[in-house]
Amino acid sequence: MYNLDLVIDRDGTGSNKWRLYRGGSHAGPITPVDPALEGDGPIPMWVADMDFASPKPVLDALSKRVQHGIFGYTGASDGYFDAVTGWFEKRYGWVVPKDWISTTPGVVPALHFAVKTWCRPGDKVLVQRPVYYPFFRAIENGGCEILSSSLIEEDGCYRMDFADLEKKASDPKVKISLLCNPHNPVGRVWTADELRQYGEICNRHGVVVIADEIHADLMMPGFTFQPYAMLGDEFALNTMVCTAPSKTFNLAGMHLSNMVIPNPDLKKAFDDYLHETGVAGGLNPLALVAIEAAYREGEPWLAAVLDYIHGNFLMMKQVLAENLPRLQPTELQGTYLAWIDFRALGLDQAALEKLTQLDAKVLFDEGHIFGPEGSGFERMNLACPRPIVSLALNRLTAEIGKL
Ligand SMILES: Cc1ncc(COP(=O)(O)O)c(C=O)c1O
Repeated sequence: MYNLDLVIDRDGTGSNKWRLYRGGSHAGPITPVDPALEGDGPIPMWVADMDFASPKPVLDALSKRVQHGIFGYTGASDGYFDAVTGWFEKRYGWVVPKDWISTTPGVVPALHFAVKTWCRPGDKVLVQRPVYYPFFRAIENGGCEILSSSLIEEDGCYRMDFADLEKKASDPKVKISLLCNPHNPVGRVWTADELRQYGEICNRHGVVVIADEIHADLMMPGFTFQPYAMLGDEFALNTMVCTAPSKTFNLAGMHLSNMVIPNPDLKKAFDDYLHETGVAGGLNPLALVAIEAAYREGEPWLAAVLDYIHGNFLMMKQVLAENLPRLQPTELQGTYLAWIDFRALGLDQAALEKLTQLDAKVLFDEGHIFGPEGSGFERMNLACPRPIVSLALNRLTAEIGKL
């Protein structure tokens, strides 16, 4: 029903992933591998978008809306909010009244706005590195300091350091904490117990939790997503939850996401910031129909895509075990981003980047960009046709074999 093996040519669409590289030191414009997987151009496996077409109902809804022909200033309809909140309720049993939602042109902009809303220059923002690197720019852009309570890695799995979190959160300069759930890049799906312990620490010290749940819908088999705001009222009333259909349905370029803020005072402060800066107002009419269709009718597509991505991960694990036993993949609990430990190769950063980017010509996001804790790791985007994953692994095998 879905031909996910099909390699779709993204040339000419302005795709950042396929024309640029920003994930390592050999950054710059790229001429990627031929869509027929011929030639020796680089294989882009860095930025988190999928090489799969969005669900058919989304394409149909967009075509219909385009045929209408008028694209004047537009706002979100009740139907849009019903689709968004209906998805949360159907998938997670999370009941979200529509007046808890503020729309933004993406989660990253919302993180910038959050820092500006709840921090003053000189304040500190608590994160858990290695973590999605645009968190750092959002913090610094607000004149604030990054304070990391870094994750603890043990036997290829990561956990939070609660004693350290308690210590760091007690610093009165810490006003907000950015939570990544599931955690990009280490692929952890935080359990209710872990989230509760983390949340209790933040609540105790008056630290507002910005819960980035953009990867929530991307669970691997055996893992269940715990929405942060469903832990209880005391957690819901001290958070802004960042949600979006962009990772789930490959709609990142639509630039429309939904922030859920159950506490009216926090919501008013955030909305005031959106109004003051001219961000609030009209929305993109195409984004609205695409998202509504995705949330209403995209679930069967998502199930197929998740199954396929898991298949890619299993295939990758098997190839690494057989051909590249020095590379250790972290268990992928959620997201479509594999986190692979290359440290046993014994290469320094420059040699590792030369190996992957110039010799093997596979463009990962380099681990160190997620913080120094990520050094020696590579983040590999598995949301692509399996023949692309195979080709990348073959190239790595060949080049590592020459070491
Ligand atoms: C944790 C996390 N937050 C946010 C984003 C991007 O959000 P947006 O495209 O809505 O700005 C990503 C994309 O990779 C991500 O991994």
